[in-house]
Amino acid sequence: MDIIVATNNQGKVREIKNILAPHNVMSQSEIGIDIDVEETGETFVENAFLKARALKSHTQCAIIADDSGLMVDYLNGEPGVYSARYAGDNTTPLQGIEKLLKNLDGVPFEGRSARFVSVIALILPDGSEYSFEGTCDGYITNILKGENGFGFDPVFYYPPYDKTFAELTDAEKNQISHRSVAIGKLSEFLNAIL
Ligand code: IMP
Repeated sequence: MDIIVATNNQGKVREIKNILAPHNVMSQSEIGIDIDVEETGETFVENAFLKARALKSHTQCAIIADDSGLMVDYLNGEPGVYSARYAGDNTTPLQGIEKLLKNLDGVPFEGRSARFVSVIALILPDGSEYSFEGTCDGYITNILKGENGFGFDPVFYYPPYDKTFAELTDAEKNQISHRSVAIGKLSEFLNAIL
């Protein structure tokens, strides 16, 4: 099946291509589409479908789009859908981390539980819509550790590896990340219906 990924993030496209092989996965830019959808939804599911539906009039292929973020229990699920702009518009990931650590100042390790969430929206050529969710549980550290990854990775401690996400290699992270769990569910679904 030909599948278009509604993202301009090449890292995401690579990860999705790896897991969904042998399907023919192409990014929106590879088929000459350049749209950047405003994420105005209040949930990951809403935002993922906003991005996927925006491509509908541009292609007959199946479309997938993802939305993801970090949910911290002590902060009642914040930053959630606002993860990319937690410290405000046009701020750096480091500023987001600084705000997060400030909001968790004085909270002991056990109280710093969090999870990354990824939702993948799928629209098939017949117009039917499905979504798949993946999560990964961990804790927010007090200090930044590791150089890899992006976003909140340097402060997301993953107990099974005794490391932050930023201390994992891409291959290690791709085996257990929220996004890979969601893509794995999507892959199983596609294999079952095709
Ligand atoms: P989006 O899914 O591209 O809208 O990104 C959401 C935001 O969530 C990112 O900008 C990061 O702040 C955060 N995020 C999502 N997944 C990860 C991850 O795997 N590591 C670190 N931060 C992440």
